[in-house]
Amino acid sequence: MAINRRNFLRSSAVALAGSYLFKPDIQGSSKGNDSIETIGSADDEQWWKFLKSQFSLKEDLYYFNNGSLGPSPEYVIDKTEKYRRTLDSFPSRYMWGGWEKDKEEVRIRVSEYFDTDREEIALIHNTSEGMNLFARSFDLKAGDEIILANHEHRTGVVPYEYYCKPLGVKLVRPVLPLLPKSADEIVDIYRRAISEKTRIISMVHMTNTNGMILPVKEISSIAREKGIILCVDGAQAVGMIKFRISDLGCDYYAASGHKWLFGPKGSGILYASRDKQELLKPLMVSSKWDNINIRMFEDYNTRNLPELLGMGAAFDFNNMIGQDRKQARIYSLKKYFRDQVDGDNRFKIKTPEPDDLSAGIQAVEVKGRVVTEARDYLLSNYNIDCRPMYSHDLNALRISLSVFNTREDIDYLIVALREFADK
Ligand SMILES: Cc1ncc(COP(=O)(O)O)c(C=O)c1O
Repeated sequence: MAINRRNFLRSSAVALAGSYLFKPDIQGSSKGNDSIETIGSADDEQWWKFLKSQFSLKEDLYYFNNGSLGPSPEYVIDKTEKYRRTLDSFPSRYMWGGWEKDKEEVRIRVSEYFDTDREEIALIHNTSEGMNLFARSFDLKAGDEIILANHEHRTGVVPYEYYCKPLGVKLVRPVLPLLPKSADEIVDIYRRAISEKTRIISMVHMTNTNGMILPVKEISSIAREKGIILCVDGAQAVGMIKFRISDLGCDYYAASGHKWLFGPKGSGILYASRDKQELLKPLMVSSKWDNINIRMFEDYNTRNLPELLGMGAAFDFNNMIGQDRKQARIYSLKKYFRDQVDGDNRFKIKTPEPDDLSAGIQAVEVKGRVVTEARDYLLSNYNIDCRPMYSHDLNALRISLSVFNTREDIDYLIVALREFADK
């Protein structure tokens, strides 16, 4: 059963979703006459503390590393565990057929979240699977070109190196600025990289390096006009920023369930627009290979159904928070963090400031210090986990700001950063 959002917000959801959604302290956080809109607003710190309590992160851990991997809330952990137990109560039934309807319900949840047709959504294992699927699919020949800007994640590059380069296909690698002033600056770089020979553009929606949001929609319209296929890696964007795939206009989109959506580890999403599905060649084929429809990209016989169904619970959890609310909170944390670091000459923020260019990932360099030392100091002295980034001249800590990070957590992080910088 899906979580009832209204009841969650009123924190009286015991009957609907289980006692883990009920914590007496949230009762105190919301004054009786608060409207549903004010409860859990971006600044209702009590409510976000309550939300944090729904996760089972180690008590003394300060986790600023959602960009690497997200924690699942108790709700998702419990649901997934239940699916595992159900599967093992009658393995042959549940693995092959018993959960068909449940699987379709997850597909519907995902398609509603992205505002797409459910026949365009496949339930896969991770973003890497989607990127591999794209790279191996297109019939390219020597001389064709693929645009892969320099901030692509390795998982968006390696498959093209493996499948396409040996055919004599050229990988064109335009260089993006770390701190663009506007999205147009990025669009121009892509426009200049396109040639008569460009067949594919593959791009991240949000870079994992410094959290820069790329203008997929604008590049998509250029690609369509020129008959170029556009594949998008949405590993960092999905669950963090609000968008509709239908608005982006790309041909393909791959994303992870286990980062900003808080889904089980090894759950992912593939979007393939209806008119481009027949170009894709499944990574594995099984008995229904000739039944051309979106399910052919997820039908691997025995597979991780509890995780896949658990991803449905993660969508329920996200819907309960609400995409608007979640995004507003993340932008509010971004501002709170940047206000304390920007202008302090001990630090340099290496993520563009405008909200259309960044959100919950901020890269910060401690000037004159090696990033690995900073990271080790934070972890060993303060139990703060974040990701050190060395590539692209970053030498910066990648700070992920998610809905389970409170302002107090950020204050604690700032104290640690300052102490390290002054050492
Ligand atoms: C931009 C980007 N793409 C792809 C991936 C790989 O994601 P997955 O482990 O879901 O395949 C990551 C992981 O950090 C990422 O940041």
